[in-house]
Amino acid sequence: MPRMTRIGILTGGGDCPGLNAVIRGIVRKGVKVHGYEFTGFRYGWAGVLEDNAIELDIERTSGLLPRGGTILGTSRTNPYKGEGDGTALVRASMERNGVDALIPIGGDDTLGVARRLAADGVPVVGVPKTIDNDIAGTDYTFGFDTAVQVATDAIDRLHTTAESHNRVLVVEVMGRHAGWIAAHAGMAGGADAILVPEKPFDLDEVCAHLRARHERGRSFSIVVASEGAHPKAGDLTLKNEEVDEFGHVRLGGIAAWLEKEIEGRTGYETRMVVLGHVQRGGTPTAYDRVLATRYGVAAVDAVARGESGVMVALRGTEVITVDILEALENNKLLDPRLYETAEVFFG
Ligand code: F6P
Repeated sequence: MPRMTRIGILTGGGDCPGLNAVIRGIVRKGVKVHGYEFTGFRYGWAGVLEDNAIELDIERTSGLLPRGGTILGTSRTNPYKGEGDGTALVRASMERNGVDALIPIGGDDTLGVARRLAADGVPVVGVPKTIDNDIAGTDYTFGFDTAVQVATDAIDRLHTTAESHNRVLVVEVMGRHAGWIAAHAGMAGGADAILVPEKPFDLDEVCAHLRARHERGRSFSIVVASEGAHPKAGDLTLKNEEVDEFGHVRLGGIAAWLEKEIEGRTGYETRMVVLGHVQRGGTPTAYDRVLATRYGVAAVDAVARGESGVMVALRGTEVITVDILEALENNKLLDPRLYETAEVFFG
């Protein structure tokens, strides 16, 4: 009897609500319709390189829809970083584990590895993942809606305490290169200023908005800032010297800087809150569960059609496949028209 087709699944980069729903979608459709078997590699590409693998079947992947994080674990390991030929190392692991094709779920870095492997002839179909929603080639990524909801809930809560104390509250949200979370949560939460990486800000202008508000009789304000936001005069985003295997520095610190500067310039008492990983943790929203499920099903169908070097993507209301290169060429930056709409409500 010929051996059944076996697919390897892995999750790389930062975790994201909806990862488990993707895994469940791949396995459910793959077993029921295509008759495939599945291996889950633990901790991203690290599990591939170290044969750290588990069997995934319908039983093992049931009950995952509401579960945050990833049952496979994740890492930022890059198979092309160390010594040796990354493709050969991955191919050898696939042979040892009897894996015929890979479905990596991840951001630019994981997808970059996927594209390189596909170019070398390894069958790979990617699934884009980021709460930041900045992967090009797809309209939305799962996890983004959850992050926006968490940030909006936080802004709603901060509103009442800001109002009670006559304070300015600065809320730092995730968003390394793009201000999607800040713009959406800021609009939904009625922020008085939204600062995003795409549009270096003028702090005097921000303070003018806050003063104008206070002159109109409002005694508090909310400022939402992406972690990657920076003022016009130079790059003041604080960076940690540490870099990961893909060369990314750790961001953070803009809210602390704004807290001091806003209070100093306006005299209004100011406090900052960094939402951080709370935006990535916990159960996905219904929207993200559905999108993640559709991505998982579409990815395993693409493998069945013999596609490789592609990733699943949402275009309008359709889930299709696009060349992974589309995702790698540029980050998907905030639509300036969305920011213009948000700006109407500043001050
Ligand atoms: O890319 C997703 C993201 O959440 C960014 O917004 C953030 O800069 C980064 O990951 C944080 O990564 P880590 O969890 O490794 O600190």
